[in-house]
Amino acid sequence: MNIMLLGAPGAGKGTQAAKLIDAYGFAHISTGDILRKSVANKTPLGMAAKGYMDKGELVPDMVVIGLVKARLQEPDAEGGFILDGFPRTVVQADALGTALDELGKKLDAVISIEVEKDALVERLTARRTCKQCGAIFNVVSQPETANGVCPACGGELMQRDDDTVATVTNRLDVYERSTAPLIAYYAEKGLLRPVNGNRAADDVFGDVRAIVEA
Ligand code: AP5
Ligand code: MG
Repeated sequence: MNIMLLGAPGAGKGTQAAKLIDAYGFAHISTGDILRKSVANKTPLGMAAKGYMDKGELVPDMVVIGLVKARLQEPDAEGGFILDGFPRTVVQADALGTALDELGKKLDAVISIEVEKDALVERLTARRTCKQCGAIFNVVSQPETANGVCPACGGELMQRDDDTVATVTNRLDVYERSTAPLIAYYAEKGLLRPVNGNRAADDVFGDVRAIVEA
């Protein structure tokens, strides 16, 4: 099964992707994770992307389209994949459609995680991510993580550079302007599956699982 997770920054795309991988073993294609790894490794791609990411702006379409086309051809994508954070513009969505046609693949569902805007800033500024295993936490709803130690693997928890109030505010504006139109785009294609994301992550996953198993 090939799934896209669509949603605003902080909607819970990464959280639901982790649950899907645990349950079904799909390949995780997260452009944000690929870009952050490139920034950490100071690769030419990372150096070029960092300025955009720190401001909460989108990295140019051609850069991320190239990344995803290559990633879709890796062997693990054969057994089903989850697109997380891609596409983010109509140009990216059109390019994805063309790439999937060329590869003889298709999308089965676009899961749109809908969350009230007021909750998003709160979620993002309280997010912590494990440097070692990549698990995602929240210091407000999971106060046991306030000591900076990953409860899953003992690794060090870090805060993303783009999770400041100023950058989050811009990311949400960019989402409204550039990415939200994809909701109508995929509704027209009959692929949109909206999910109420204003509930505990496990409850949201109940709906996600029902879509995958439908
Ligand atoms: P990216 O990494 O994709 O970030 P994003 O889309 O802004 O989304 P987030 O990862 O911030 O949120 P999420 O929905 O994954 O939420 P999470 O599960 O972590 O992109 C970062 C940057 O890279 C972009 O700004 C851009 O510069 C660049 N980029 C990436 N892709 C690009 C592309 N295609 N084109 C151009 N540029 C691109 O959860 C967030 C918090 O909420 C956590 O603390 C979590 O514990 C908590 N939480 C999760 N679910 C729930 C719940 N149900 N209830 C309560 N809390 C919850
Ligand atoms: Mg994410």
